[in-house]
Amino acid sequence: MKAIVATGYGSPDVLRLKEVDKPTPDAHELLVRVHTTTVVAGDSRIRSSTYTRFGLLMRLGLGIRRPRKTIPGNEFSGVVEAVGSDVTRFRVGDHVFGVLWGIAFAGANAEYVCVPDDGMVVIRPTGISHQQAAALPVGALCALHFLRRSGIHGGQRILIHGASGSVGTYAVQLARHFGAHVTAVCGPDSVELVQSLGAERVLDYTKVDYSIAGRRAGP
Ligand SMILES: NC(=O)c1ccc[n+]([C@@H]2O[C@H](COP(=O)([O-])OP(=O)(O)OC[C@H]3O[C@@H](n4cnc5c(N)ncnc54)[C@H](OP(=O)(O)O)[C@@H]3O)[C@@H](O)[C@H]2O)c1
Repeated sequence: MKAIVATGYGSPDVLRLKEVDKPTPDAHELLVRVHTTTVVAGDSRIRSSTYTRFGLLMRLGLGIRRPRKTIPGNEFSGVVEAVGSDVTRFRVGDHVFGVLWGIAFAGANAEYVCVPDDGMVVIRPTGISHQQAAALPVGALCALHFLRRSGIHGGQRILIHGASGSVGTYAVQLARHFGAHVTAVCGPDSVELVQSLGAERVLDYTKVDYSIAGRRAGP
């Protein structure tokens, strides 16, 4: 199969389209033929090896000279091509989307991925395209996780920094869903987008420093 392979750390030039072995699902896995995959912030951070903290520790874990796991990509949307003997939740031909998680490259930027049947994979609803589904898991799951950890509740005022990004666009919509009043921070080209997602107040980070803008989150 074809896959994107990182030949080292550095600029996007280290990435090559290569022929690699097609994975074989074990008894609890499904083999998904990938229709759409994405690049998330974590992929480019691992590839460029730019960490604000723990740089040496990350290299020890991920590979000293080049990534030990070479195929980037977390998110995928595609069609189940084969299932292991113990898989009961999915059948060949199911349209699915999901995410392969991990601190290293997870391998979704490829023609095929093997996914545990109890992993983060679900049937793709008919109303959303492969492209829409593949772009959903990392941003939406992170936003939901951290909003829940923050104890978000109705009537609260919340500031979402990076509101136009993968995580932020879901965070704005989910915070509104929980009944919070959202102030969003983004760049000038994203103001309309973020307003359309439900932010009541939008701060353009090129004009306003949110940390001294004068209002506090609460109650
Ligand atoms: N811990 C985890 O599990 C986890 C998971 C996913 C992501 N993350 C982290 O969360 C962060 C956001 O990820 P993402 O995938 O949402 O990134 P992204 O899609 O690249 O979005 C980046 C956001 O940052 C804004 N931004 C860019 N330059 C800025 C500046 N100088 N000042 C203020 N805002 C600026 C962008 O605004 P404009 O585009 O409008 O300019 C955009 O809203 C990243 O640091 C990522 O590594 C963590």
